[in-house]
Amino acid sequence: MVPKIIKIQNLIVSVKQGEQSKNIVDKVSLSIAENSIVGLVGGSGSGKTTIGLSIIRLLAAALKIDGGEILFEGYNLLTYSGSKMREIRGKKIGMVFQEPLYAFNPVFRVGEQINEVLRFHTRLDVNKRKAKVLELIDMVGLPYPDKIYENYPHQLSGGMRQRAMIAQAIATEPKLLIADEPTSNLDVTVQAKIIELFQDLNKKLNLSILLITHDLGVVSHLCDSIAVMTNGKIVETGKTDEVMRSPKDKYTEALLSCS
Ligand SMILES: Nc1ncnc2c1ncn2[C@@H]1O[C@H](COP(=O)(O)OP(=O)(O)OP(=O)(O)O)[C@@H](O)[C@H]1O
Ligand SMILES: [Mg+2]
Repeated sequence: MVPKIIKIQNLIVSVKQGEQSKNIVDKVSLSIAENSIVGLVGGSGSGKTTIGLSIIRLLAAALKIDGGEILFEGYNLLTYSGSKMREIRGKKIGMVFQEPLYAFNPVFRVGEQINEVLRFHTRLDVNKRKAKVLELIDMVGLPYPDKIYENYPHQLSGGMRQRAMIAQAIATEPKLLIADEPTSNLDVTVQAKIIELFQDLNKKLNLSILLITHDLGVVSHLCDSIAVMTNGKIVETGKTDEVMRSPKDKYTEALLSCS
């Protein structure tokens, strides 16, 4: 058996609706093997982002984890204190967010924002941090790192900003990267380059990736295995090519037929 980087077991997340509460993630179990790329796919509102945000414990106040375990390095993240979670988040688990709200702050330079992650999580001195940020910017394939460092987020194109966010998410060399719809809103050629970048990072840094997307094309190019979600439940998991070739679940079949 390949060791697992993360193992989610019977996760339940609920949302309060007046007096009632409804499970938006309903007994979900999902594992990611070390050094692998797993695609979490499903329609809008199926609960994909909620799973990603549960792992790093950044759920909106209205949402509550009601059960289950999220084992990371053998420990249940759901039992960790807020300060312990702040150490894990960004250091051992990086995240590229779907919500622009969590993305770069428009009033600070891109390089400074990546630098801030290193300042918080490492003991590198000022010069080493700057050098590391330039290296990261280069690593994600952005040209002229010195210039990008000084740019404000709005000065970059969508694809460049996405790369810069990936640079920020991998700054501390996390073991797991959660990427939530990292290629949505990008044109296909830029999408293909981001896919290549993920493949590269997976190989070079032994980075495990949970790729959250509704785009089965991206999954088929990038992911070793796939988990299909609908209505808060995972209805099918398996090796990507096997699931794509012969889906066992009706919902997966429907998803494949309309992509
Ligand atoms: N803060 C919140 N308050 C109330 N309901 C929420 C909140 N966040 C998510 N939900 C509900 O939880 C369900 C799952 O949402 P989630 O964002 O995880 O879906 P998703 O699969 O990521 O969808 P998408 O593909 O559109 O990003 C949805 O029905 C959504 O309306
Ligand atoms: Mg989402």
